[in-house]
Amino acid sequence: MRLTWLGHSAHLLESAGGTVLIDPFLSNNPVAARLPESLHLDAILVTHGHRDHLGDALELAARFDVPIVAVAELADHCSSQGVTGERMNLGGQIDVAAGLSVACVPAVHTSSVGVDRLPAGAPCGFVVTANDRRVYHAGDTAVFGDMALIANMGLDVALLPIGGRFTMGPDDAVHAARLLQAGTVIPMHYNTFPAISQDPHAFATQVREETSSTPVVLQPGETYEIAAGST
Ligand code: NI
Ligand code: MN
Repeated sequence: MRLTWLGHSAHLLESAGGTVLIDPFLSNNPVAARLPESLHLDAILVTHGHRDHLGDALELAARFDVPIVAVAELADHCSSQGVTGERMNLGGQIDVAAGLSVACVPAVHTSSVGVDRLPAGAPCGFVVTANDRRVYHAGDTAVFGDMALIANMGLDVALLPIGGRFTMGPDDAVHAARLLQAGTVIPMHYNTFPAISQDPHAFATQVREETSSTPVVLQPGETYEIAAGST
């Protein structure tokens, strides 16, 4: 499986089994990378309704003619906007392609859509499984003890927010990494705006010294190949 960080919490996961785009906040993100020119998408996954996650999902779902997978209330909002909302909820798992499944897991955060802040159901994280590789995208979240249950799924990669203020910061993300026991930890949701400035390399040093995971710091647009047997 190939993972490409597009900036903020936007990630593209490509595999023989299927391809998904997560939290595509691109056109209003000052440091976003461009989507690859040729792309076969199976679905767009959105962790919660905040604009830096829902982002360009509606436009991209229409352009690529793919569903938006989200918690039921947010999926219904997407359906009301003329695209296909694929409804699921916490604890559920669905196949979005022949060889790619998505599990919806808790996140400790809030969720709303639009300037009126209409309720959009619970926020979530996603665990994407394809070609025997498993990636956890935490969405926006605080650290929480039940990350130890997500660890039981056997994670190759954990994508963790480190920006602070709206999510956990680096110290709590290191605690999260200890609970999750993923082979690789990749930071996200930092340095997009001044309010979430962080040093990802200082975080990486902490992960290397204080957890069993290997940290990888990506640049927006950079691809990371998730090797077989990385856990
Ligand atoms: Ni948020
Ligand atoms: Mn956010």
